[in-house]
Amino acid sequence: MKSKASAPAKVILFGEHFVVYGVKAILCAINKRITVTAETIEENKISIKSNIGNLELEPGGEITEINSPLKPFYYLANKMIRSQKGGIQINVESDIPLGVGLGSSSACCVAGAAAISGLFKKISKEAILELAIEAEKTIFENTSGADCTVCTYGGIMEYDKKNGFSKIESEPNFHLVIANSKIEHSTKSVVEGVKEFKERNENTFSTLCKKESKLVEDVLELLKENNISELGNKITKNQEYLETIGISNDKLRKMVQIGQNKSFGTKITGAGGGGCVFALTDESNLEETMNQFKDENIDCFSVKIDFKGLDTF
Ligand code: MEV
Repeated sequence: MKSKASAPAKVILFGEHFVVYGVKAILCAINKRITVTAETIEENKISIKSNIGNLELEPGGEITEINSPLKPFYYLANKMIRSQKGGIQINVESDIPLGVGLGSSSACCVAGAAAISGLFKKISKEAILELAIEAEKTIFENTSGADCTVCTYGGIMEYDKKNGFSKIESEPNFHLVIANSKIEHSTKSVVEGVKEFKERNENTFSTLCKKESKLVEDVLELLKENNISELGNKITKNQEYLETIGISNDKLRKMVQIGQNKSFGTKITGAGGGGCVFALTDESNLEETMNQFKDENIDCFSVKIDFKGLDTF
């Protein structure tokens, strides 16, 4: 028995970190994917193969004792396998750079939850999302759930912890140029750093949350109008707030500056501390923006919004 699923990567356009404290974020899925194939096997083992390494364990192990980014797959397989004899073989193929803020781990959790559960029964997208968030919590307990949500449903959406997500019914005509600092980061530790910043600077943080909320409301209007140059200005503003909470560094600042030269606006996306920045462009400045990064030997690629989300085969 074999089951296969794929899920897209994501970009947080506005609101990362603040979303953890209840502020609304705006995210979109992008056209880069992770594909997970799950297969039942006779041997009593859970075996995971991926381009970031392999993990092979017997079912029934203690999840807290596993120290591997592949842990969510083991969690999911272990949870599902209970009712059957034998094991599960899982293969992960990714065209998403891993650990750089583009939602690779969320896409793994979503595609993993769909492929592994698909071996046993057909469940709804809502149930897959619930499983995926559970699995993500094995590596990052305080997740807001935003990343798994957008990887499941695709498109562009607003998300807050209390009200969940709502799709934004706009098909904005932009391209994002993603530039990779190649500095890997741990979302968990960057989020912990922000928590410490908040505890030391309660007033500043609370003001920033209010400013971010207002900015996100403005952005929702601008998206309706497809006002790309004003959206760019909001990106620049949001980057200032991210600088203030301490998730930037010299390399990221330099990359933001490079992106700003030709794009409408450039900011960090995701946890920060490393990872990626994105630059907002359209047909008129896409190539020039890419060239700015390439001239400085910074890896970059362009993406569009993925409207499909989770796909099962
Ligand atoms: C990580 O991609 C986004 C953060 O806002 C954390 C989260 O939302 O769970 C930093």
